[in-house]
Order: sequence, then C-alpha cells, then structure tokens
Amino acid sequence: MNTPEPMFVRELARIDDPQFVSGQVAGHRARRLIDAPDAVFADPFVLMAEDWSPPGLFGFHPHRGIETVTFVIEGAIEHRDSAGHEGVIQAGDAQWMTAGRGIRHEENPPAGTIAHTLQLWVNLPAAEKMADPRYQDLVASALPVRSEDGVEVRVFSGAYGGMVSPTLNHLPVTMFEVRAENSIAFRHSFAATDNAFVYVLEGAVEIGAAGNLLKASQLGWLTRSEEPGSSELIIAARGTVGRFLLFAGQPLREPIAFEGPFVMNTQAEIQHAFADYRAGHF
Ligand code: CO
Repeated sequence: MNTPEPMFVRELARIDDPQFVSGQVAGHRARRLIDAPDAVFADPFVLMAEDWSPPGLFGFHPHRGIETVTFVIEGAIEHRDSAGHEGVIQAGDAQWMTAGRGIRHEENPPAGTIAHTLQLWVNLPAAEKMADPRYQDLVASALPVRSEDGVEVRVFSGAYGGMVSPTLNHLPVTMFEVRAENSIAFRHSFAATDNAFVYVLEGAVEIGAAGNLLKASQLGWLTRSEEPGSSELIIAARGTVGRFLLFAGQPLREPIAFEGPFVMNTQAEIQHAFADYRAGHF
C-alpha cells in the first residue's frame, strides 16, 4: 500500500521591506520591490516597481523579451503602444502586455492626477522572446472571482478552485488578488516547484503553518521545493483585513542578460535589441 506523500507546506522564506528611491521627476515617488540583483533568485520574475507617477514620466519607451504586468492601486493609467493598442485601466484593474520581439509604449495617468501602480516584469522563455507583441486589459469586474466565508479571490491569471482566468499566458503565471477578513484563511494548492511571492496591499497577513507576519508594503518570498508535487499555501488575515497579491511561476533556469528595458539570454542579443531599436524596428 502506498501512503500519500506529505504535502509541502509553503512558509515565509524572506521578507523584503523596500525603501523609497529618489524619483525621476518632481512629484514622482518609487520603490523597487524586485530589482536586477534578484533576477536569478526571482526567476521567472525579473523586476517589480511601485510608482506614484505624474503624467509624462513614462513617455514612449521600448521593451523586448518580457511581459509587463501593471496593476493599478490608486488612480488610472492611459496606455498607448506602437502596435496600435490603446486603453485605460482604473484602480483594481491590470494590464498584461507581451513585449515579445519589441514594442514601444507609454503609460500615463490622466492630466492633473498621480497614479499609484505596481509593475512586474515576467521573463519570457528563450523560445518565445521574439513572440508577437500582445496587449490584454484585465478589468477587475470582468475577471473570475470567488467570495466565500470572508475570503475573496480575483483570478487575474491562472486557475483557482475550478475558475480559470481568460488571460493568455506565454509562461503560465498565477496572479490572484485576495482579500481576507477577520483572521479567515485563504488556501491554495499549486506546484511545489513554482517560485512564489506575496505583496501586501492593505492590513497584514499570517503566512504558512508558522503564521509568520507580513505587513502592508512588504513583499514576502515563499519557500519552495525542488521535488515535483503539490504545495499547500495558507494565508490568514491578521485582524480585520489582509489584502494581497499572490504571484507564482515556474523558474525558467535560463541565462539572463538584462539591460535597460530589454531582458534577453545573452549580451549579444541585448546589443542586437539596441541596434534594432536605433534602426526603428520596434
Ligand atoms: Co514600459
């Protein structure tokens, strides 16, 4: 008789408490939640920034080799890109953009406003770095959501409890926004080998069997296993409210060459990206 393997239980492995960096213009504040030195540790995630930005800060600029996921915490973002896509996302919405072989875009709050946003860069596998650019508006009200017993889960990407997000992925990535109330726990089972982190938007949460505390504006990396199988994640609200984003994805384990807005596998590919950009190929 086989006894079932004990399931791997996710715990809080590391708490990052990023500090503010100097803004690029007056009125701009920023924190780097995941930064370049972490690009191997964070695999398949490359970078995450939190910005309070005025209009005009993020004018037309290029990307290649990644997907950018922008979540609006407060305010709104108007987006335009070189592939002809245009849209506005409001607080609680997200935008999932595949830069692929190359795109130029601008991301700006409406005139006279400040947008408070998170932007995560998801790496693309070598075989898909030159994919066609793509743009998806993920409007909160149109996404699958489950509310039960003081836990609300909105599925921006991936699947939860039989609900599957319509978001198209080159690399399967889980992105949930979870709101838990009154010490009630959110539970999720997913691949034990996924690299996963939690960013707390509001209140505080207790993570894992150990119940380690993670507070608003902190980013917590979760333990993971090298053994294939499933893992169990338990996150409970500490007190009345804990609202957080959960991201998870399978590490690519490919070489990373990262410079400016381009994330490729080799330095030669980075030079090629700059040359293509200068030649007007984006
Ligand atoms: Co950009």
